[in-house]
Amino acid sequence: MESIEKEFSGVRVLHGVDFHVLPGEVMALVGENGAGKSTLMKILAGVHTDWRGTILLDDRVVHFASTREAEEAGIAIIFQELNLVPELTVAENIYLGREPTRFGDVIDYPRMNRMAQEIMDNLHFNAPVTIPVSQLRVGRQQLVEIGKALSLNARILVMDEPTSALSEAETEVLFTVVRKLRENEVSVVYISHRLTELSEIADRVTVLRDGYTVGSNLVKDTSRSELIRMMVGRDFQQFFVKEGEPGEDIVLRVNKLTRTSADPPRMPVFEDISFEVRRGEQFGIAGLLGSGRTELLEALFGAAAADTTGSVELEGVELDLSSPRKAIGAGMALITEDRKGNGLIISMNVEQNLTLAALRDLVRFSILSKTKERALAEEYVERLSIDVSDLKNPIETLSGGNQQKVLLAKWLATRPKVLLLDEPTRGIDVGAKHELYIHLSKLAKQGVSIVMVSSELPELLSICDRIMVLRSGRVSALFDREEASQEKILNAAAPAA
Ligand SMILES: Nc1ncnc2c1ncn2[C@@H]1O[C@H](COP(=O)(O)OP(=O)(O)OP(=O)(O)O)[C@@H](O)[C@H]1O
Ligand SMILES: [Mg+2]
Repeated sequence: MESIEKEFSGVRVLHGVDFHVLPGEVMALVGENGAGKSTLMKILAGVHTDWRGTILLDDRVVHFASTREAEEAGIAIIFQELNLVPELTVAENIYLGREPTRFGDVIDYPRMNRMAQEIMDNLHFNAPVTIPVSQLRVGRQQLVEIGKALSLNARILVMDEPTSALSEAETEVLFTVVRKLRENEVSVVYISHRLTELSEIADRVTVLRDGYTVGSNLVKDTSRSELIRMMVGRDFQQFFVKEGEPGEDIVLRVNKLTRTSADPPRMPVFEDISFEVRRGEQFGIAGLLGSGRTELLEALFGAAAADTTGSVELEGVELDLSSPRKAIGAGMALITEDRKGNGLIISMNVEQNLTLAALRDLVRFSILSKTKERALAEEYVERLSIDVSDLKNPIETLSGGNQQKVLLAKWLATRPKVLLLDEPTRGIDVGAKHELYIHLSKLAKQGVSIVMVSSELPELLSICDRIMVLRSGRVSALFDREEASQEKILNAAAPAA
């Protein structure tokens, strides 16, 4: 790709970007939120058709008019945002619009399911491909996206944040798949904000900043700090260590909480979970995907009333877990892992999304204060450096990471007693992560108790006072910050042999 330029309604976001990928190489593409990574790859994959510059595939000039055309030329993309049809099965999603047929136009379901199952088995999906996607958690849906892209047998495969919802184990499986692709001369473009992954998987790295190419390097010759300097354009304090100690009094007391699943019926999701969180404590929850982390947060937020037994006390008063509204009223807030599903309202603009959860505070005598709404939105845009030119812009026009920041800001604006966070830094860049750590620490100092699920262990280790580890729905360990280490957590999280 040479001298690629792209504008959105008159605003230029790519300024002559150069990007080259060799056969059988894994090329990492990195840069801050809004740098232009997804846009560049959507141009390659035929999503955006209105752009200037040159794309050469081998020696042939191409300008794809649709994703279908790009697919036919051997280019597949795993989008940053999930793109599945919830009502359809895993197999139907994988082969949507390309279903194998027999007798002319009858879909050959047995064959389709067989082919899909084989692909998903390679990804260690461990479930029949005939279940609807709506029954899957975000991480599992992401595996389906990956399966769908693999089914195209592309020669260039673009992965836009493929691991953002994956556990460590699933990430390892994905890396094995990527290495196999590389052996078969497939080129992989790998976009990620998890810089530690790059040395493990990528051969070269290209850095974008504000729509310009900063440069390309061999990964093995590039240090982490060098990479960050290329991305943010200055030296950057990378490590954050939490300061301050939590208070003595218990704010949240969870007592023998057990949740069974509705489908399949009565299977335990998690069992007999008890823990206490002190005022101003940052309490981390680690565990593999499927260990019950997300389900636990949902239950604490009153989003699983029908299946949950046990009790939760907030400041000594039993919490009514029958609905999220009650939980919010009592002082709980939840930032979910799935920003499209429960987090953001796609039809609303940035400002409306930002202020949605805090509306209670803004409504005085039933008059919504427009000025207050705007002031609140502006404050958080500033604090998290959300890249948006106008608060009235639709939320979809923001880059993936900036959407995540809006979601964070929306709940931070509610000033809860207990803030529950599920993978809050997924998809946001190093700078914004750092800002978030500082902000959480500030909230903790003001007495907010924070319960945070994260797959990024370094993150938990640097900001949490204590870390609880879940394994198959049970508490397998609880560490103080001084005794916790990456190795101990991984051991406690790994399935018992
Ligand atoms: N459909 C759109 N309409 C208007 N502006 C857009 C649209 N899509 C992207 N942009 C803008 O283009 C710029 C680059 O966005 P892009 O999504 O490519 O960033 P990114 O590097 O992928 O960031 P992230 O790491 O957050 O995913 C941003 O300023 C974004 O707001
Ligand atoms: Mg993106």
